[in-house]
Amino acid sequence: MSEVRFEHITKRFGETVAVNDLTLTIPDKEFLVLVGPSGCGKTTALRLISGLEVPTSGNIYIGEKLVNDVAPKDRDIAMVFQSYALYPHMSVRDNMAFGLSLRKTPKPEIERRVKEAARILGIEELLKRKPRQLSGGQRQRVALGRAIVREPVVFLLDEPLSNLDAKLRVQTRAELSKLYQRLGTTFIYVTHDQVEAMTMATVIAVMKTGVLQQVGKPQELYEKPGNVFVAGFIGSPAMNFFDVIVKSGQDGIYLDAGTFQMPVPKEKAGILDKYLDKKIVFGIRPEDIHSPAYMAPGIIASSIRAKVDVTELMGNEFFLHMLSDDKPFLARVDARTPARPGQEIELVFNMANMQAFDEETQKTLLS
Ligand SMILES: Nc1ncnc2c1ncn2[C@@H]1O[C@H](COP(=O)(O)OP(=O)(O)OP(=O)(O)O)[C@@H](O)[C@H]1O
Ligand SMILES: [Mg+2]
Repeated sequence: MSEVRFEHITKRFGETVAVNDLTLTIPDKEFLVLVGPSGCGKTTALRLISGLEVPTSGNIYIGEKLVNDVAPKDRDIAMVFQSYALYPHMSVRDNMAFGLSLRKTPKPEIERRVKEAARILGIEELLKRKPRQLSGGQRQRVALGRAIVREPVVFLLDEPLSNLDAKLRVQTRAELSKLYQRLGTTFIYVTHDQVEAMTMATVIAVMKTGVLQQVGKPQELYEKPGNVFVAGFIGSPAMNFFDVIVKSGQDGIYLDAGTFQMPVPKEKAGILDKYLDKKIVFGIRPEDIHSPAYMAPGIIASSIRAKVDVTELMGNEFFLHMLSDDKPFLARVDARTPARPGQEIELVFNMANMQAFDEETQKTLLS
């Protein structure tokens, strides 16, 4: 059992509360990605699991065991850092074997594990080289190898891909997913990159200023964000938000943004009934805004007119930076959409995928 559990964990550094009353269970064999902006407490949370930091208050469990007072070396975890800090004078093989030698693991066992890790990572040919003779991606794999040979019950990874270029990052992302499937061990992975979170995680935990915002499967967070922060953080380009007033008309409930009005689909109207004549935050993702000429059938579409500000052709699609009066928003439309800067065009919103949030608490109204 390698479940990891935070129970009301708080970590302070002087005045700074790096982790604030965190209660979170990371089930055995999940790939949990802890994601959030810089400084939100991700690394601190990871270091608390590894034992490199001691909680100010609260308890941490690995499996059934309370580990607050267990030394890092006795925790049966392995951590891969952002800067992989290989020993420059040692060969790849020795870098991978070093931790095991320190632990007095028998030589044949070390050989077996290094060989196995090198095979898994496809670096068997590199075992004799020194780190300076390796590419960034290869060094990254050696750092992973050093963790794998430990055969830990939990892997902790702190932004391990941030030193790689964009293409290699995408490739290594897929390799990490494969590695996870092969090893069948709990992975806890920290990143500020929501794309990494969406693509690799089986479970995502979103943090902001030390406070856990939401935990769920990637698709759940995308489709049912619990608050404005998660809605804006998960998904790229980010969700558009508009301050609107909930109103009632002949055809039912609608949202009034001043420059445009949007009917609310029946299944959501009941919930918004309570907010009649009140201000709420309306959210719509760029991919839920379409050109009327190029949209999938069956969409609950409501049209608006707005001015094209800037266009970005991405090849397969068009990013339209739009202005509704002076309120900017982004639409991600079919590449064939005719749109020139300065032009006023018609766009449709797929209201089936709309989001609505309380203006004050910022929490979703749709749960
Ligand atoms: N040893 C320390 N002493 C004082 N403050 C610290 C220490 N370590 C972290 N902090 C502070 O705690 C907060 C959380 O830091 P942490 O490194 O956990 O953030 P992070 O989410 O990993 O950020 P990043 O994405 O930039 O790596 C920050 O405000 C940071 O300045
Ligand atoms: Mg960090």
